[in-house]
Amino acid sequence: MKKVTEIKSMQAEMARHKQQGQSIGFVPTMGYLHEGHLTLVRNARKENDIVVLSIFVNPLQFGPTEDFAEYPRDFERDRALAESEMVDYLFYPSVQEMYPNKPAVTVSVQDRTDVLCGKSRPGHFDGVATVITKLFHIVMPDKAYFGKKDAQQVAVLEGLVSDFNFPVELVAIDIVREQDGLAKSSRNVNLLPQERQQAPILYKSLLAASQAIEKGERNPASLVQLIEGMLKSHSNVAIDYVTILSYPQLKPLEELTGKVIIALAVKFSKVRLIDNLILDLDQEEPLCIAQ
Ligand code: PAJ
Repeated sequence: MKKVTEIKSMQAEMARHKQQGQSIGFVPTMGYLHEGHLTLVRNARKENDIVVLSIFVNPLQFGPTEDFAEYPRDFERDRALAESEMVDYLFYPSVQEMYPNKPAVTVSVQDRTDVLCGKSRPGHFDGVATVITKLFHIVMPDKAYFGKKDAQQVAVLEGLVSDFNFPVELVAIDIVREQDGLAKSSRNVNLLPQERQQAPILYKSLLAASQAIEKGERNPASLVQLIEGMLKSHSNVAIDYVTILSYPQLKPLEELTGKVIIALAVKFSKVRLIDNLILDLDQEEPLCIAQ
């Protein structure tokens, strides 16, 4: 595995592989790798000649009061994990390398950002779309792998790829969870012990909503109430949002039908966590988790 920190060297290496007709699979991350990230890498490994993993905590996608400084980092651990998954290139640029100056041009996302995390994290998806645009120009991948844990990120990046004509295929991978249902996240290490015990209620409340849907509930407001009630009675979280929308359009629904996303974001003392469930109500019984 080669560790590369310079953009120019990365572009030269990638150009060489492309000339040789080799396909490039790319997994962008912010590091502190866990089984979710590694699942993306394993998929990339299966489907491409060359696998590139990037680790870059992107300041542009963090708001001024968010956890950029506290975001967990452990490069040596990440390097060992990447090596054991047979990554070919580990791209690990500094902030100075990626943003030597205040950017003169950034990407501004126009749609699918007035809901969910876009609503409570203004500018977040502009930061994600900007760094992914840069990374795609640096790595020039054939396929790029993203997790459905960040379902809105996938929806926004599908718009980016399509509107900016990137010759890249996006591959969306199911959420990887802990045994107790908590979605794996680099941020989970910043939960206090008592919060870690409470955290499985996020997924449990989503499952309770899907069971209610299975029994015939179609009113989004009642389902939101059910989830919020469970979150409040089993934890001390501050609820950022609990929302049900059409998927992937992310539009509000009067009554549930078709493919829907039930998404939530909550704040523990130091960490904001998200989770979601994507359901296809048009499928035959039993209700299909369309992850
Ligand atoms: P990060 O949070 O490090 O996540 C990197 C990728 O791993 C994302 O595509 C995310 O959806 C996926 N992922 C995280 N947890 C997962 C889980 N439990 N199951 C499946 N996939 C999971 O998302 C980002 O970084 C950044 O916004 C980035 C795209 C790198 C741009 O800076």
